[in-house]
Amino acid sequence: MAMLEIESLNGWYGASHVLHGVSFSVEPGEILALVGRNGAGKTSIIRSIMGLMPRTTGGIRFNGEDISAMKAHDRYARGLAYVPEERRIVRGLTVLENLQLGLVADRKGIDETAAIEEIARSFPRLKERLHQEGVTMSGGEQQMLAIARAMIAKPRMILLDEPSEGIMPVLVEEMGALFRRLREQGTTLLLVEQNVEWALKLADRAVIVDQGEIVYRSDAATLLADKDIQERYCAV
Ligand SMILES: Nc1ncnc2c1ncn2[C@@H]1O[C@H](COP(=O)(O)OP(=O)(O)OP(=O)(O)O)[C@@H](O)[C@H]1O
Ligand SMILES: [Mg+2]
Repeated sequence: MAMLEIESLNGWYGASHVLHGVSFSVEPGEILALVGRNGAGKTSIIRSIMGLMPRTTGGIRFNGEDISAMKAHDRYARGLAYVPEERRIVRGLTVLENLQLGLVADRKGIDETAAIEEIARSFPRLKERLHQEGVTMSGGEQQMLAIARAMIAKPRMILLDEPSEGIMPVLVEEMGALFRRLREQGTTLLLVEQNVEWALKLADRAVIVDQGEIVYRSDAATLLADKDIQERYCAV
């Protein structure tokens, strides 16, 4: 059974119809790359999955359960986590307090101290800065914090919206290694990226969205080798 199954998803902002019959699925334990040019609908798809799109129709199943009518926090509580494009590190809160925000939703049986310790082991840069205000870190460190905050409650699946954007290459490499580790541990990832080559090297499979429709699906290696398709649908 697929971990996430999207069927005939339509989405609107007011009168503007931006998603048109989107269907794809994400298998347990895989990294699926969702790519496409600016304005194609990538963020809208992620928002729809999280319950943050103003209006949608169509099916969204997570572990076999229909979540399409649920509030965002109920989807979150079922094990879906989201790293938005704009990171949303909260001003005035320390790194530690920002991490603790990842634990406020209702997920049973999480020992906060152990969870923070485990995250600190995975993110040595954050460990040194637990008591520093989150927004005073570099853009790349804030992105790592946003990912750590999404990981802390051990979600089954993480939706990442352009995590590598504006980040220096050494941190992008670190992020890639982190995503591979997460996959090894069984976490499923949906990775939206403009850095198509990097995403396809990490991913197992890929789908392309264009003008609110899925226009291509394949294994990631096939798309990585197909420069024509990349040029047609992914050129920025
Ligand atoms: N809040 C909004 N209100 C109205 N229209 C919106 C809103 N957000 C996005 N759109 C429109 O919806 C369409 C899809 O946008 P979306 O942000 O999903 O694309 P994207 O693939 O994430 O683009 P990018 O690569 O620039 O992040 C675009 O036509 C965009 O202008
Ligand atoms: Mg976007």
